[in-house]
Amino acid sequence: MGTKKLYIETYGCQMNEYDTDRIKNALDAEPTDDPKSADIIIVNTCAIRDKADQKAFSSLGKFKSRKANDPNVIVGISGCVAQLYGDKLLKKIPHLDFVLGPRAIPKLPDIIARIESEKRRTVETSYDIEELFEIEPYHKEGKVTAFVSVQQGCNKRCTYCIVPTVRGDEVNRDLNDILRETNNLVSKGVREISFIGQTVNSWKKDGHKFGDLIRAAGEIENLDRIRFTTSYPRDITKKMIDAMKDVPQVCHHLHLPVQSGSDKVLSMMKRTYTRQWYVDTINRLKDAIPDITISTDIIIGFPGETDQDFQETMSLMREMEFESSYSFKFSPRPGTVAAEYSGEDIVDPQVASARLSELQAYQKEITETKNQSRVGKIEKVLVEGESRNDPEFLSGRTDHNRILNFKGPKDLVGKTVEVEVKEGLLNSLRGELVV
Ligand code: 5AD
Repeated sequence: MGTKKLYIETYGCQMNEYDTDRIKNALDAEPTDDPKSADIIIVNTCAIRDKADQKAFSSLGKFKSRKANDPNVIVGISGCVAQLYGDKLLKKIPHLDFVLGPRAIPKLPDIIARIESEKRRTVETSYDIEELFEIEPYHKEGKVTAFVSVQQGCNKRCTYCIVPTVRGDEVNRDLNDILRETNNLVSKGVREISFIGQTVNSWKKDGHKFGDLIRAAGEIENLDRIRFTTSYPRDITKKMIDAMKDVPQVCHHLHLPVQSGSDKVLSMMKRTYTRQWYVDTINRLKDAIPDITISTDIIIGFPGETDQDFQETMSLMREMEFESSYSFKFSPRPGTVAAEYSGEDIVDPQVASARLSELQAYQKEITETKNQSRVGKIEKVLVEGESRNDPEFLSGRTDHNRILNFKGPKDLVGKTVEVEVKEGLLNSLRGELVV
């Protein structure tokens, strides 16, 4: 198996990126960027919105002729679309060899072996896989940032969301397991860890809460930065805020999806908080950590969203001035409560598009203004590598999660340096190394 070449395409969230790296390790194959030379081709999919679904299918379509020319190549689908549609996918996609749900990654070596020996197409989408966290992710040498999963699945029941259906109920990982994986990565040169979970701050295990996890990570030598995502507003506790404040390695940025500024819509989404509660929570965070920056997610056009509701979302955007935001048009997902709405509750797609554009234009202004306001400031940057757009520049992120590019010697990769910001762009900052 060691000499097999694996090509894997990844869609969706950080959890999927992490799962892709777990798949690489599970198979002990050589990763390749070239599907033509691969022995195993996998598309790791996202089901969060209909568009993401469609992307998965068109991605798989690309490998049809490869499979026709070389029947020994193994083509599989993994991730949330695999879980959602299960064996229907084998009928729909004749060149597919296996369907693997997100919880079944530890079973992958057996599945591949079986396909090779018995030439039988396989579906593995059961939830009760005991070795859930057993496979740790592949780590690319020299990479200074890494994800560590602290939980699988989700116990919230937001009415629009497919995640609990495809990733199952929340399962939290043992503290010692998390710390062992983190330590291991640090010993390979990682300097920044992002703990990941669907509602990461709801993590609790054997009497420990999320704040305890942060404090324990803060004790790890040579771990310079701790991030975590995605936080669920209602699970922000005083203990968590205190830990964020007390542990100096915790970065001062929080991604905190609000979804809507209208209490009516929040209630229909079953988000379990009100707009005021959200605002008060951010204020508590800012009292403890004055320079904290907040980013968010917004869903536009949830069924029943009136113009008034949308205006409330816009007024929240103005009140909060989020650092950045990801905003999406509501997409009905199979089996979710919100997919049941029909008739006049459905927001006209053109109205939803216009609302989305208005919100995104406003956000763009705010992000640009905020980035420009950093000019003249000295920022601490963990150098991650060459800039993607221009290898002349090094690239890293500030404590507040802004990308900052600057010129400097390559041996700074993995170090935290001071950079003076000279320019604020929409998606990044540009600066000069302070020497
Ligand atoms: N339609 C549109 N956006 C969605 N999200 C989750 N489910 C849906 C859906 N059905 C968005 C939410 C979430 C982000 C990851 O995706 O804003 O925070």
